[in-house]
Amino acid sequence: MLSISVLALLVFCGVQTKAIQECEHVEHQSYVCREIENFEQLSQYIEEDWQSVNIVNEHTDIENDNSPLPKLSKLHALDLSQSGGLTLGRNGFRDFSSLQRLNLSHCQLEELRGKHFVNNATLVNLDVSDNDLLRIDRSLMRQMPNLVYANFSSNSIAHVELDAFKNLNHLILLDLHTNEQENITIGSNANLRYLSIGNNNVRDFQWCRLRGLPQLYELHLDSNWLEVLDMGIFYVLPQLRVLNVSNNNIYEIQRQLFVGPGPDVDPLLQLLDYSSNNVDFLEDYVFNRLHHLETLNLRLNQISKISPTAFRGLTNLQSLQLQGNKINHLPDEVFANLTALRMLDLSKNNIRQLGTNVFGSYILKNLSAFYLSHNDIEQLHPLAFSSMPFLQELRLSRNKLTALDIRMFAPLRRLRVLTVSENRLVEIEDDLLNTFDKLTDLEINNNRLTFLPTLKEQLVLPLLRHIRIEGNPWQCLCLDELTSWLHARLVSYAATASAYYSGRKPLCIVTPMEQCLRDLQAVREHGIVESYEHI
Ligand SMILES: *[C@@H]1O[C@H](CO)[C@@H](O)[C@H](O)[C@H]1NC(C)=O
Ligand SMILES: *[C@@H]1O[C@H](CO)[C@@H](O)[C@H](O)[C@H]1NC(C)=O
Ligand SMILES: *[C@@H]1O[C@H](CO)[C@@H](O)[C@H](O)[C@H]1NC(C)=O
Ligand SMILES: *[C@@H]1O[C@H](CO)[C@@H](O)[C@H](O)[C@H]1NC(C)=O
Ligand SMILES: *[C@@H]1O[C@H](CO)[C@@H](O)[C@H](O)[C@H]1NC(C)=O
Ligand SMILES: *[C@@H]1O[C@H](CO)[C@@H](O)[C@H](O)[C@H]1NC(C)=O
Ligand SMILES: *[C@@H]1O[C@H](CO)[C@@H](O)[C@H](O)[C@H]1NC(C)=O
Repeated sequence: MLSISVLALLVFCGVQTKAIQECEHVEHQSYVCREIENFEQLSQYIEEDWQSVNIVNEHTDIENDNSPLPKLSKLHALDLSQSGGLTLGRNGFRDFSSLQRLNLSHCQLEELRGKHFVNNATLVNLDVSDNDLLRIDRSLMRQMPNLVYANFSSNSIAHVELDAFKNLNHLILLDLHTNEQENITIGSNANLRYLSIGNNNVRDFQWCRLRGLPQLYELHLDSNWLEVLDMGIFYVLPQLRVLNVSNNNIYEIQRQLFVGPGPDVDPLLQLLDYSSNNVDFLEDYVFNRLHHLETLNLRLNQISKISPTAFRGLTNLQSLQLQGNKINHLPDEVFANLTALRMLDLSKNNIRQLGTNVFGSYILKNLSAFYLSHNDIEQLHPLAFSSMPFLQELRLSRNKLTALDIRMFAPLRRLRVLTVSENRLVEIEDDLLNTFDKLTDLEINNNRLTFLPTLKEQLVLPLLRHIRIEGNPWQCLCLDELTSWLHARLVSYAATASAYYSGRKPLCIVTPMEQCLRDLQAVREHGIVESYEHI
């Protein structure tokens, strides 16, 4: 009762205060002020201890005045992102002479000029994201020599004056994501570490344009119109750790791209995101120099051919994403010596089989997740997973598997998650279930299973928490046995969103037998699978 009346009071207060101008203390020296129409009104509220103000307007926007307001110089932080829009007068932010953090996000600003700021401003953090700015000029940036963080994302900036950021010796992060730049003209900055020019209109581009950014660590060029990347990236950007060129039209990856910084110096790159491009072929030794690479994302390309040596040299690679390509054949030893690998995703390809020598002769001790769902695999060699005994998650859904071989799973003593849904399995054998002693999640839905082996209370699947079983032609008697075992063990199985459920239980086939028939031959003779397919 108490909580309800408190809530009612809060709602009531909220409604009442909406249109009223007021400031309230939030924490420490921070305040929220509501319905402030101009900086003069704000100035009247400011007291000795004020440092940070967030202006929240629902019924007005904010204008600034032309007369000096000395009290504003107390503030270190000003957030106008909820001010409902800002109209800047002649004085701009000149009265805020101690300002370190300024948030102008969502202010409907069309321009920001040098004259709006005091010379040698103390500003460290500037967020102008989500406005309508068209350009960035040197004369503006010159007024912020101490800037560390500059966020200009989501504007309409087409023009950045060359070397606009050159004298900002502390600048570390520059976000120009979602703008209209065709050419990269940022010029030099000695310390910049993070640069994003993602989602602009960059078409042709040469690394030499970034020659003035020797400390660049992270570069985002995703979602542009790039088709080719020219050679020798690390000559220009020797410190680069993260490169994102996702979602462009790049059709090849050339080994020469990754040369530099020097003949005996390895590139430091750790993350390479090439996802959503048009690459169709991975050539010999293409990534060979990237000894520090930990994440390689090649998902959603058109890759149909991979050289057996394409991934050589990636001795620190932990995550390899190849899902959503057109791979139908994996050459022998293609993943050999990737001993640091933790996750390999090959789902959504056209793979028919996994040769026994694809992983070479070394054990991949760190490989814990392997995804092969959504391929064309009919049969797996009994030794297919022999080089990855520490696997914890194996996904084989949406293939054409008709049987699971115990020799394949017996070595996988740590397996926790196994999905084999949407295959053509007719039977899962007793011995096989007994090997799954660490399994917590099992998906066997949408196969041709009519029964499972008798489940002995404690021994089988001791750690199972979740199972999916729907979409199989279960004999009702077998299903009853299974679900009562699941209930007794508190294993959840209902995927309520699935069409295969009627009420709480998956659909099943009523048979004339008096008990669950656990003999495949007899099941065939009774035509159980066929009668299910007619439903
Ligand atoms: C600026 O305000 C927006 C909206 O309130 C917020 O999402 C963003 O994180 C703020 N920027 C900074 C740098 O704090
Ligand atoms: C700005 O600061 C720099 C170095 O901190 C100083 O050399 C310069 O004179 C200052 N300019 C003004 C106009 O205060
Ligand atoms: C820049 O601002 C946008 C919008 O608020 C935000 O999504 C983005 O993460 C910010 N960029 C950085 C690097 O903080
Ligand atoms: C970008 O550079 C190209 C080639 O140098 C030039 O033709 C084009 O006009 C430039 N675009 C802009 C918006 O400056
Ligand atoms: C690269 O850019 C894409 C597209 O914007 C984005 O989805 C992805 O998260 C980015 N990758 C990294 C590692 O930042
Ligand atoms: C794997 O590494 C070993 C030892 O460094 C080397 O002898 C072998 O040739 C490598 N195999 C492949 C396929 O690169
Ligand atoms: C495997 O993972 C462990 C623990 O994170 C790590 O110490 C080891 O170096 C990794 N092995 C390889 C070959 O990278």
